[in-house]
Amino acid sequence: MTVVLGIETSCDETAAAVVLDGREVRSSVVSSQIDLHARYGGVVPEIAGRAHVSLITPVITEALELAGMNHTGAGIDLVAATIGPGLIGSLLVGVSAAKALALVWGVPFIGVNHLEAHLLSPFLENPDLELPLVTLLVSGGHTLIVHMESATSYTVLGSTIDDAAGEAFDKVARYLGLPYPGGPVIDALALTGDPESIRFPRAMRNEGYDFSFSGLKTSVVNHVRKHPDVDSADVAASFQEAVVDVLVEKLGRAAIQVRARGIAIGGGVAANSALRERVAALGRRMDVPTYLPERAMCTDNAAMVAGAAWWRHPVDGDTGLDAPAWPSLRLRR
Ligand code: KG4
Ligand code: ZN
Repeated sequence: MTVVLGIETSCDETAAAVVLDGREVRSSVVSSQIDLHARYGGVVPEIAGRAHVSLITPVITEALELAGMNHTGAGIDLVAATIGPGLIGSLLVGVSAAKALALVWGVPFIGVNHLEAHLLSPFLENPDLELPLVTLLVSGGHTLIVHMESATSYTVLGSTIDDAAGEAFDKVARYLGLPYPGGPVIDALALTGDPESIRFPRAMRNEGYDFSFSGLKTSVVNHVRKHPDVDSADVAASFQEAVVDVLVEKLGRAAIQVRARGIAIGGGVAANSALRERVAALGRRMDVPTYLPERAMCTDNAAMVAGAAWWRHPVDGDTGLDAPAWPSLRLRR
């Protein structure tokens, strides 16, 4: 049995978790800084870094205590932290804390790619899921379709050429005067709107696996300018429908191409109700299982970091204590 302490501080969540063998989540603590950033309409990097410094020790302490452990680190075999991508001042806090603990406790440090952590989050609940898998990774910074032959061997089939899906949600919400982060707010507002009321464009829907969402955002802005009395719930529902349509169309096409035996989603936008329903329906139509991590495992958390470290460690080995943080780290190609 391998027990991993995972730490996540790439953006505005300070998180720590204890996970056994990449599947049994003993504790997962997430302290969100949303309140600190909401008034600015987005994450302010300097505020995020400073908040991580204040929160990191209490959050790690709580994760250890909830798992029945303490600051001696007895029972912890590996300490993992997100090393990128993310905000440099935020990443450095988690990486430094993890390295210090690894050094003091005499256990290896594992630097985890945040995107791989999202990609592997479906394995936390379903370690024996059917392979090959196509996974849609949709977060605030990334939109990717990935063909996974195993947990550690994958190929990126497509990605966004401009805005990420979550970024589109956040920008449209901001334009509509809704609070940050926009995704959950649009999700809730869309429940009372008509998704067919406005026909927003579905860019590149039928071409390849790349995505483009910046034109959609512009059409929303243009539509609202032209029709200032439009119901925001209808705008939210129609916008969300356009995003989900493109995501699910490409996911389905990719699943057919690689003869996927499973379909998974991950990343903050994977918490979206409409997307979850449509992906579940796609799986039923294609007769393949779908893996939708519970909402708390879609948005940033440290259990996925600990889980990813457990999968990657046998392949990649220890990460040096002199390893830097990588703000623009990408998925391996
Ligand atoms: O994965 P995540 O927590 O952080 C990044 O790695 O980016 O994703 C955050 C993104 C934000 O853009 C947020 O608006 C979006 O995920 N999001 C949602 C929902 N919950 C979070 N988007 C649509 N519907 C949701 N329910
Ligand atoms: Zn994330």
